[in-house]
Amino acid sequence: MANTDSILKGKKGIIFGALNNKSIAWKVAEKAYEAGAEFTLSNAPVALRFGDIDKLAEKCNSLVIAADATILEDIEKVFKESMEFFGGKVDFVLHSIGMSLNVRKGNVYNDLNYNYFQKTLEVSALSFHKLLQTAFSMDAVNEWGSIVALSYVAAQRTLYGYNDMGDAKALLESISRSFGYIYGREKKVRVNTISQSPTPTTAGSGVKGFDSLLDFTERMSPLGNASAADCAGYCIALFSDLTRKVTMQNLFHDGGFSSMGMSLRAMTQYDKSFKDCD
Ligand SMILES: NC(=O)c1ccc[n+]([C@@H]2O[C@H](COP(=O)([O-])OP(=O)(O)OC[C@H]3O[C@@H](n4cnc5c(N)ncnc54)[C@H](O)[C@@H]3O)[C@@H](O)[C@H]2O)c1
Repeated sequence: MANTDSILKGKKGIIFGALNNKSIAWKVAEKAYEAGAEFTLSNAPVALRFGDIDKLAEKCNSLVIAADATILEDIEKVFKESMEFFGGKVDFVLHSIGMSLNVRKGNVYNDLNYNYFQKTLEVSALSFHKLLQTAFSMDAVNEWGSIVALSYVAAQRTLYGYNDMGDAKALLESISRSFGYIYGREKKVRVNTISQSPTPTTAGSGVKGFDSLLDFTERMSPLGNASAADCAGYCIALFSDLTRKVTMQNLFHDGGFSSMGMSLRAMTQYDKSFKDCD
């Protein structure tokens, strides 16, 4: 793994969504700390009760701020308290938030509960707009700062079992582009999404057939699946000054999966299933 020592020295940030040590946001926090950044951590009040975020905060000398990312006042509180903590604006923000009650309850896409569907969009996509609008109106991010949200290829391609989260990710990526234009134009702030490989986390493992999906994408990707730690490395690169002109992009971080149609390893496994039928 490349050495990221001091690449974020002097940078301040906010990391939303670290629940436990499997969370992508958790790995990002660890790597950002190693890279010399200071940051606050935020998660929903219920996640603070059941998760391990205090351990992470202790390790990284961070402040934890409870916030339901669907509530504007909560997001305002996160930016306000973070700026008080640092005595100034921040340089990077990670939105690592997603949840679908339809996925959790096993409702299939052609039999959705619409209250849950709205909740999926609120939590997994509109929360990003709220975060961006709040940061923008409070002028909370320094020029050349970087805001990143995590997405998934189900925004472009249909993947069995991903359900209404595919719609949420499509909206998330669109919000990133639309706001990225305004934020870049007005305040020179970058806004991007990273489209990450399936990753065994609490949210990821909730998707129906997740183990098979993980195996399939591993076989299909020439470089194999990207892990949460790999994703953290990419986030650090995007927070750093080395990517100052990257904005309004959806950046695939998936070992090559999104450009593949069929691979030798997947074909070999597929052929085996016919042999079993003989
Ligand atoms: N795991 C995967 O396979 C995968 C792949 C691509 C993208 N992603 C995305 O990565 C992000 C992080 O997920 P993860 O895989 O690390 O799982 P995770 O379960 O560790 O993280 C999801 C986080 O969302 C938080 N959250 C849910 N509702 C919230 C609310 N109302 N307010 C504030 N926070 C709330 C949870 O508390 C949790 O910390 C999500 O956007 C997810 O869709 C995950």
